[in-house]
Amino acid sequence: MKTLDEIRSLAVIGAGVMGRGIALVAARDGFNCILFDINQKMLDESAAYIEDFLKKSVERGKISEAEMPEILGRVKYTSNSTDIIGDVIIEAIPENPDLKQKVLSEVEAINSPDTIIASNTSTIPITRIAAGLKRPEMVVGMHFFNPAPLMQLVEVISGEMTADWVAQLIYDLAQKMHKKPVFVKDEPGFIVNRVARPFYVESLRIAEENGASIEAIDRLLESSGFRMGPFKLMDLIGIETNHEVTKSLFNAFFQEPRFRPSRLQQKKVDAGQFGRKTGRGFYSYEK
Ligand SMILES: NC(=O)c1ccc[n+]([C@@H]2O[C@H](COP(=O)([O-])OP(=O)(O)OC[C@H]3O[C@@H](n4cnc5c(N)ncnc54)[C@H](O)[C@@H]3O)[C@@H](O)[C@H]2O)c1
Repeated sequence: MKTLDEIRSLAVIGAGVMGRGIALVAARDGFNCILFDINQKMLDESAAYIEDFLKKSVERGKISEAEMPEILGRVKYTSNSTDIIGDVIIEAIPENPDLKQKVLSEVEAINSPDTIIASNTSTIPITRIAAGLKRPEMVVGMHFFNPAPLMQLVEVISGEMTADWVAQLIYDLAQKMHKKPVFVKDEPGFIVNRVARPFYVESLRIAEENGASIEAIDRLLESSGFRMGPFKLMDLIGIETNHEVTKSLFNAFFQEPRFRPSRLQQKKVDAGQFGRKTGRGFYSYEK
């Protein structure tokens, strides 16, 4: 059993929308953090994102100028999988159970038996991911929200085999990262993604039925109090990720019609229009 003070190094797998933000949060709170990706371009983009975010934090007086190089120095970018070593591993690769299991079982094999393996999955049961590993008691969900450096909530998910102390330690770790963790059950979509699914699915349906334009739907929901309308939010999340999350939830609930994925969203995925990350989604971000 590890204690919070014994957690010094983290390794984040996947340097996409979420992984780079999680690595920044970890480094900002004093942890040495390895950020791994198979794609060098994502690592380069992550380094630029983290530097840019920290520069703005200095300008806004959130951190001092002296802190910036210290934080930057704590992140090590790598595409060498043998570098994925840490007290806690946080996985943030695409929402695909087989891929997550494969990558995590390889990572488990090169780490010490008391390394905690956390997944940032949005919907895949932790029990399912853990079942493919040798030490399922060390596997837990640590679900950050987008953008990870700004959003407070972290869902901490215990699978069937997760040791209680592992979930508690991840809860404490999230608090140390200045987040507001909550324990949630290992149900598909946990709490937030399950509750939020109709926000996306119904909006997509209205647009498919030509009930309103995407701009009008966004404007109406924003004027009713939502910070971002569903289409702007899908562009921020990544349309392909949001689509995978919906498909995963739909299947986990045995094709429950209210979670049925959208053809309109499928078309965007087929076209490679994933949102901000590709410069085009429901809106255009091309300069
Ligand atoms: N985007 C969101 O708003 C959001 C929010 C919370 C949770 N999540 C979850 O976080 C996870 C990652 O989502 P994302 O939006 O960051 O995805 P993303 O597509 O932006 O990034 C995924 C990264 O994983 C890398 N990758 C692919 N295969 C890999 C492998 N075998 N080893 C290492 N890296 C690999 C890709 O190169 C990419 O950089 C998913 O499970 C998703 O459901 C996403």
